Amino acid sequence: MRWRILCVAGARPNFMKIAPLLRAFADDPRFEAGLVHTGQHYDDRLSRVFFDELAIPRPDVDLEVGSGSHAQQTAEIMKRFEPVLEREQPHGVLVVGDVNSTIACAAVTAKFFRREPFRAFGRTRKRPLVIHVEAGLRSRDLDMPEEINRMLTDAISDLLFVSEPSGMVNLAREGVGPDRAVFVGNVMIDTLLAARERARSSPVLTTLGLGERAYGLVTLHRPSNVDDVDALQRLLATLAGLGVHLVFPVHPRTRHRMQSAGIALDPERWSVCEPLGYLDFLRLQASARVVFTDSGGIQEETTVLGVPCITLRESTERPVTCEQGTNQLAGTSPATIVAAYQRIDEIGRAGRVPERWDGKSAQRIAAAIADALA
Ligand code: UD1
Repeated sequence: MRWRILCVAGARPNFMKIAPLLRAFADDPRFEAGLVHTGQHYDDRLSRVFFDELAIPRPDVDLEVGSGSHAQQTAEIMKRFEPVLEREQPHGVLVVGDVNSTIACAAVTAKFFRREPFRAFGRTRKRPLVIHVEAGLRSRDLDMPEEINRMLTDAISDLLFVSEPSGMVNLAREGVGPDRAVFVGNVMIDTLLAARERARSSPVLTTLGLGERAYGLVTLHRPSNVDDVDALQRLLATLAGLGVHLVFPVHPRTRHRMQSAGIALDPERWSVCEPLGYLDFLRLQASARVVFTDSGGIQEETTVLGVPCITLRESTERPVTCEQGTNQLAGTSPATIVAAYQRIDEIGRAGRVPERWDGKSAQRIAAAIADALA
């Protein structure tokens, strides 16, 4: 008998995490893995391009939920995922990260009973294992929808795979011990290390007319930064005042806000473009003088690339990137952003790569799941 694991991905930051996991399952004949795409992100530039570039197999199931309010999106994923469990009868459901697709599928799985019992952790059970990859991260900011998704998903997971030491500490505080939580490193970095060489041949610098280390790369999509037009305008003005040329691939959420508020950026200072594919974006990060972001994953990627990162948020759930890596948590006020910018040369040289961010995290996860099911 093979262990059937359903892997769930729905939004852009999920795709680079799921790619190495699907490969690790495919390399181990004891597993039979399927992929469910919830359709939370549906634009080619947020979804299809990652499947093509990272050789992710076509999803076995596409729930096609699309956009909506948090409740609508989460509820719709739950409604459409339950019949998939009924049909597929998996031994485990693996969810990654902290998006609405993560909590929606974890919650449905946690209350689902298979027709046939199976063995896990040395006992017989009928509920598929809920497996959370990137567990334990905490920003302690309950205004972030992702923080709610993280806490709820971890609370109902059977196996929690942790990317950095802070995650183990957070989980221990919440009563989750080493019987359920395993420090495996960072699957997003598995993907980065595997693609790094290929990204070097991306033509994106030439296409955008950019020189090595001659620009700052900007990404912004957190509701707290972009949904309030005044806050967004202030941030963009602060960045434009730093004096470095800025490259800004604009997330659809941000583009909608900018369009409706009539915000236009000076082409002398800004190169504005659509969201980019994985390889082009990796090349842009690797060659940037500095990256300004409110993303979680980019804080980690810049740490591995040794590129200074300035995080435009008040908190981070990824403290290792500040303690050991190249990240500075600058908040969103002009004074702190300017101060962080003045320190980039010093910070960039001091960074190192965190433990177990070594390209082997997905293999560790597959091995630990096999142990739990043996
Ligand atoms: C979601 C995740 C966030 C992640 C981000 C990466 C949650 C709560 N948020 O935020 O953690 O960092 O993805 O991108 O799950 N839209 C499109 N095309 C698409 C998808 C969305 O145009 O393919 C537009 C829609 O107008 C939509 C808006 O973007 O309403 C926001 O999309 P949504 O999935 O709700 O959240 P993100 O802001 O992308």
